[in-house]
Amino acid sequence: MNRFIVISASIAIFLSILFFHLLNSNYWLKWRASLVPSTKLEVDLIVKNGVIFTSDPSFPVADSMAIRDGRILRVGSYSSLQDLSGYGTKELNLEGKIVVPGFIDSHVHLIFAGLQMVRVQLQGVNQKDEVVRTVKEAALKAKRGSWILGGGWNNDLWGGELPVASWIDDVTSDNPVWLTRMDGHMGLANSVALKLAGVTNLSKDPNGGTIMRTSDGEPTGLLIDAAMELILARIPEVSVDERREAMLRASSFALTRGVTAVVDFGRYFPGAPVERSWKDFSDVFQWADSSGKMIIRVCLFFPMETWSRLYDVIHKAGHALSNWIYLGGVKAFVDGSLGSNSALFHEPYFDDPHNSGLQVMESESLFNMTMASDKSGLQVAIHAIGDRANDLILDMYESVASTNGKRDRRFRIEHAQHLAPGTADRFGKQGIIASVQITCSVMLMLRSESLGWIGLKRDHIFSSHFYQAMHCWR
Ligand SMILES: *[C@@H]1O[C@H](CO)[C@@H](O)[C@H](O)[C@H]1NC(C)=O
Ligand SMILES: *[C@@H]1O[C@H](CO)[C@@H](O)[C@H](O)[C@H]1NC(C)=O
Repeated sequence: MNRFIVISASIAIFLSILFFHLLNSNYWLKWRASLVPSTKLEVDLIVKNGVIFTSDPSFPVADSMAIRDGRILRVGSYSSLQDLSGYGTKELNLEGKIVVPGFIDSHVHLIFAGLQMVRVQLQGVNQKDEVVRTVKEAALKAKRGSWILGGGWNNDLWGGELPVASWIDDVTSDNPVWLTRMDGHMGLANSVALKLAGVTNLSKDPNGGTIMRTSDGEPTGLLIDAAMELILARIPEVSVDERREAMLRASSFALTRGVTAVVDFGRYFPGAPVERSWKDFSDVFQWADSSGKMIIRVCLFFPMETWSRLYDVIHKAGHALSNWIYLGGVKAFVDGSLGSNSALFHEPYFDDPHNSGLQVMESESLFNMTMASDKSGLQVAIHAIGDRANDLILDMYESVASTNGKRDRRFRIEHAQHLAPGTADRFGKQGIIASVQITCSVMLMLRSESLGWIGLKRDHIFSSHFYQAMHCWR
């Protein structure tokens, strides 16, 4: 842990210095040129006394590196860089700190994350009382009638009991409230919000979603997967400025952790309008790029329903729109999440014996869209958590690949969280990328520890899981 903090801190320091020089390099170059005309290649900065990880197996560690125009020109020993040093060259002594290449986070939702950073934050809250207190504080500051938004809660931290509207109704009688669970597949509405959205004991569950109810059939306030749209449709869309600030805020945060590139899956999830992703693309990413505000590189994925639109853009402009924006591919969902009991399993949930999860997109249209996207050369990423969801996608990928023929397609399964015995091997055989997120494994650990296991034998999960290979379990 300490080592990680040291690494993060070193990278943050290093990056801020690197970016300072990036901004100022033109100034220095012009200034030097006017004073000392010279044909010698001089660098802006020499970083020395570091432990610089090069990613080159023949030369894994260097102590110094030379930087010009924000790019690393050479790594090596301090003395081997002396011919690059000139009048305007600055030096930075790292005093033994570690430098690694920027981290790439392969699955983020930048705008969501940036919005959440300034909303009601329930991450890590481990008591019901604290949920109520945090929401109450937000309600005291909120304008009468305005939406109180936030989330990040995880019921497993307070023993598993799912929150209900009545927890917060007394402290939020003047405001509609919507608080999403940390996995984003479930949210809690208060009674004001349910009323605004017209969710009553007579409302039907939408396709791919569940309205949680009491034994009398009254909605409890919890809405799962596609049912979340009943509330989300009522929440005023965030303004362009809010979305822009959110993206920049999340990007700055990423840099403080040494993350310099991300794969962004946007604000798309089952039930959400696909148009949002495209608006974010033009309003936020293209805006930031054209006004010089991008500070991390992004690879963008778009809803699979809109594959032909993405194909058209790539066909005209290519994948790399600039140094900062790369058009990645398309994304779809096949199931929900474990925490919301909506991940699709072969067996029912232990605490919910009539439920084995939700398939949020019907197989035939998923297959048709995957075929079409792949045929047009787009990379396909599909969210799958439960073992049945993973089997379903692996079968589908196999069939699409054999129909469309051999190519470097790099199908991805996002999360690939629970696999039936033997399934892990299929990833290797079929050349599928298991896009695994460690934060999900932390959620899983909390859930399986606090509830005993749900529906599947513990051994089965631990033995078949990729995380085990990553030495994440203790
Ligand atoms: C639904 O709620 C209304 C009002 O509370 C009640 O009169 C009605 O009996 C309920 N219907 C069902 C099917 O539970
Ligand atoms: C899938 O494609 C087939 C063949 O083109 C077509 O007949 C079928 O209607 C499509 N199904 C859906 C759900 O789009």
